[in-house]
Order: sequence, then structure tokens, then C-alpha cells
Amino acid sequence: MTETFSGSFTQQEPIPDEAIEAALAVLRHGRLHRYNLAKGELGETALLEQEFAAQTGARYCLAVASGGYALATALRAVGVGPGDAVLTNAFTLAPVPGAIASVGARPVFVGVTESLTIDLDDLAAKAGAARVLMLSHMRGHLCDMDRLMQICDDAGITVIEDCAHTMGAAWNGVPSGRQGAVGCYSCQTYKHVNSGEGGLLVTDDEEIAARAVMLSGSYMLYERHLAAPGPEVFERIKYHTPNISGRMDNLRAAILRPQLRALDTQVTRWNERYQRIEAGLRGTPGLTVIERPEAETYVGSSIQFLLLDWAADKVQEALRRCAARGVELKWFGTPEPVGFTSRYDSWRYAESAPMPASDRVLAGIIDMRVPLTFSLEDCDLIARIIRAEVGAVHQS
Ligand SMILES: Cc1ncc(COP(=O)(O)O)c(C=O)c1O
Repeated sequence: MTETFSGSFTQQEPIPDEAIEAALAVLRHGRLHRYNLAKGELGETALLEQEFAAQTGARYCLAVASGGYALATALRAVGVGPGDAVLTNAFTLAPVPGAIASVGARPVFVGVTESLTIDLDDLAAKAGAARVLMLSHMRGHLCDMDRLMQICDDAGITVIEDCAHTMGAAWNGVPSGRQGAVGCYSCQTYKHVNSGEGGLLVTDDEEIAARAVMLSGSYMLYERHLAAPGPEVFERIKYHTPNISGRMDNLRAAILRPQLRALDTQVTRWNERYQRIEAGLRGTPGLTVIERPEAETYVGSSIQFLLLDWAADKVQEALRRCAARGVELKWFGTPEPVGFTSRYDSWRYAESAPMPASDRVLAGIIDMRVPLTFSLEDCDLIARIIRAEVGAVHQS
């Protein structure tokens, strides 16, 4: 009998009861806007910021409307403006070059290695091209952060980390988002905490933090923040920083606070699933598993493997056969952006020179979500299906 999988790759877990209770309390009192506070009340959003700053060891934290908004705000806050070049990954998703384009700046793409991380030799070669790097930890893969920071420090490059896929991850024990000048996270439904939409920004730099608060739309109410610098810092920047509203609201913050408290447990559960799938795929002819560096603490909320140097029609055949058995795989080799996949040459508003070595890697990347609604047995079944179908196509 041919086994098929009938689960959903897009079904996340329900919002925890504690978060639902907290959301109901906000709905009942009606003060959803972050600055709408009763006497003595601190507010869910300000508390969320205080707690996330403590969790990541950051001095400052700002909660905003989305991860993409956090990225654009970080760019503005470090002084990127129209016409500026910003280094970024060739292997990432549309919100990253989109954030760069949203401030009128210009992405300069840096290649991807077979480890699915930014090509540090290519970065070193292009380091003179820009003074900011928006580093995307795409699909949760952390590059050698020590070497990356060395390259950037030597070249005077400010690093903004896109941690949409690395909330809860770490490099040598340092939480992802804490090596660059700014770390940006997404709280959108498919990420590691779920408020539908939402973003968080952390930094240790008081001026970046103050500008970010002003940019997000603080109406000069910055003293209601619990994880922002003191008023004297705002005095220096408040007349020169525009309001580009994109605040988080108390309802979303209420949903997020209990989820952040449970993050470590969730990371363990994700990694149990990831490791079951990885073990099931290891040794499949024609398939390359991505080895994770020892320094990396990752969050296995998705898994990638390579069908390196396969003909496009063979890749498509393997994907079709897996899909027929209920296993949804995404491919970064497709010339047209589909759903959540796209590649550097899909973004035609941004110039790019061909990168043959990266094209070879991108043409082989297969990507799969691992929602926590999958049981460990589901993960074993999914791995058996991929192994059988990829193996069959590879041999044919
Ligand atoms: C790599 C990456 N960066 C940034 C974002 C932006 O997050 P948001 O959807 O919250 O704007 C996403 C979202 O999909 C993403 O995948």
C-alpha cells in the first residue's frame, strides 16, 4: 500500500488559553491602542517590549506592526536614505529587498553557499559597496557570525539582522539578533510566535532606539515606553525624525507575551520534529542534507535540503510525486516567484548581476514547513515519502 500524508503544512497550533484570556481582558477594557492607558497601567505593548528586551539581553526593544516594518524602521533609524546601497542576501524572501526598496535604497545582493548562508567571501569582496548590511538569517540558517562581524567591523558596515526565522536561535550562545546593531523579528502567523501580524526590534544603541520609537508613531508619548532610552535622548532627535505609523497594539501584545514565555519549549518541540525528518532523509541518493554548525542553536520550524545539479524537470517530477502523496515542498529554482518562494532575480525593481554559483545552489533548494501540529510519526511518514519519491526519480 502506498502511504500518503493528509496533514496541513500551513496549520499552526491554536493560540494558548493564557494568551486568549489576556486578549479577552484587553477586549473587555477596550484600550487597544498602546498609548491608551488607565491611571497606573503600564500596557501590554510596553510590557511585551520590556520582556523581550530581557529575554534577548537587549537594552531597548520596540514592538511594531510587522517584521517588514521593523526592517524598514531599522534602515531609517541607522540613517539609510534614498539612493543608498544596502548589502543583503541573494537567498531571502521578498520583504527583505522590499524593506530596502521602501526607503528608496538599492539592494546589492550577496551570494549563497551550499550551507544556505550568506557567502562570506562574496561579502568581503563587496564590502566596499555599502555601509549597511541587512543580513537575512533565511530559513533559520546562521552563518559564521564571528567572521561576518569581523568583515563588517573591519569595513565599517552596520549590520541589521533579519531574524524572522531565528527568534529563539543563537550563535555560540548569543541570541540571534544581538550581534548586529539592530535585530528585527516577525510575529506573523508562520513564525515562532503568532499574533497574525507583528514585529519586534531590539538594539543597544540609544539613538537608534529613540529614532525607531519616533518613526513607529509615538506622538511624543515616548515616556510611556518601558524599554526605550530616557527623554534626553529623544530631545536630541525628536524634531528631525518623522512619524511613519506602524505601532503594535495591546491586543497583539497580550497574545504574544505568554507565547514568548513558552518559546524555549516550542523550540525543543520544533527541533524534535526537524531531527526526525532529517534522520529519515539522511542517505537518500541524490539528496543533500544541510549540516548544522556546532556553534548554531537553531529552530527547526522548516527544513531544507538540496537536489544539487538535478535537471529542472527531474526536480519538478520529484515535487509532483511528493505532492501527490500529500507532501508539500517548495522549490527556489522556479523562474517565477510562487507563494513564499522568490529569488534575487525575481525582484525586477532591483538591479542584480548574475551569480552563477548562487544560481546553482538556488536551483537545488527544496524547502518544507514543519508546523508544530505535526506529530513525530507524521515527520517519520513525511521523510519516508520524500525518500521514496526523490530516490525513485533520482534512479530513473
Ligand atoms: C525572511 C523574512 N524576513 C522578513 C519577513 C517579514 O516579516 P512580516 O511578514 O512580519 O512582515 C519575512 C516574512 O515572511 C521573512 O520570511
